[in-house]
Amino acid sequence: MANTKPLKPINIAKRYKHIKPVPRMPNFAAWIEGVDLTKPLSEPVKKELRQALWDFEVIFFKPQILTPKQHVALAGVFGPSSDGSYFERNVHAPELEMIVFDEKRPPTIDSWHTDISWKEQPPLGTAIQITVTPPAGGNTCWISTTKAYEWLSPAMQKYLETLSAVHTWEIASFRDSLAKKGDEALFAALREFKPVTHPVIRKNADSGRKYIYVNSGFTKKIVGVDRHEADGMLRFLFDWFKRPEFMVHHQWETNGIAIWDNRSTQHYALADYWPHLRVNQRVTFDDPRNVVQKSKDVKRVSKDKARTKKILTGA
Ligand SMILES: [Fe+2]
Repeated sequence: MANTKPLKPINIAKRYKHIKPVPRMPNFAAWIEGVDLTKPLSEPVKKELRQALWDFEVIFFKPQILTPKQHVALAGVFGPSSDGSYFERNVHAPELEMIVFDEKRPPTIDSWHTDISWKEQPPLGTAIQITVTPPAGGNTCWISTTKAYEWLSPAMQKYLETLSAVHTWEIASFRDSLAKKGDEALFAALREFKPVTHPVIRKNADSGRKYIYVNSGFTKKIVGVDRHEADGMLRFLFDWFKRPEFMVHHQWETNGIAIWDNRSTQHYALADYWPHLRVNQRVTFDDPRNVVQKSKDVKRVSKDKARTKKILTGA
């Protein structure tokens, strides 16, 4: 049986005046037409790009050649650049991660995941450009965990809202990559990035829609639930996500661009092109609201440290 709740389509004509979203699926995954990303963007265009990301969760642009700085600026439309992960950095823009796979470096991101959900405050979203495409394959799939939530029965939705889950990079391929760099790199990461807990159901502060927040890449367990039951529930959810109704399968053109809301989507980069070369340039961006909070926290902590020093030293 299909979902019993009828779809309410987003009214594109009413909502958008400066860009043209063309949905690839109902209320999910849209091409964006009518925007030249190599030129400075006006505020009304930026505002509608943000709206499109909240409405469609992943947005696509036909090939446009962006410089590293233009790529960083595009991500900046949605939020300040975040720290990113362990990938190499572009020499012209340290915010830009170079995810390069070839014969000697086999692909490692062929797993369903939400970027960096193993942090307390994962990035809000990600903007990528595939600058070298393999002769065939190398597609990326995204799923909407908003849709996955909305299609569940009310009783299941209610139950999942009571749960939290533990996320850690230790169950991902990062662990092997770090181990290759030596014990110290691995120990440093273990010390710095401890497992974190997130609610299983979260609400997108921008769209107001609820979504499921567990992923097979980084979610280790459900808190306070017997391991066998928790494993069964996670297996069900990971399987549920893969319904074709929740998924868009994207074939890249060289210099094509995609931006996604990292809260309510998961993605999977197919590894079928190996041993050919594929170059993915990525900028992750933070939620501006978290950055304001973080800077307040930093200021508070340094104020506290100064006060402590004063007390201890009498200075
Ligand atoms: Fe990713």
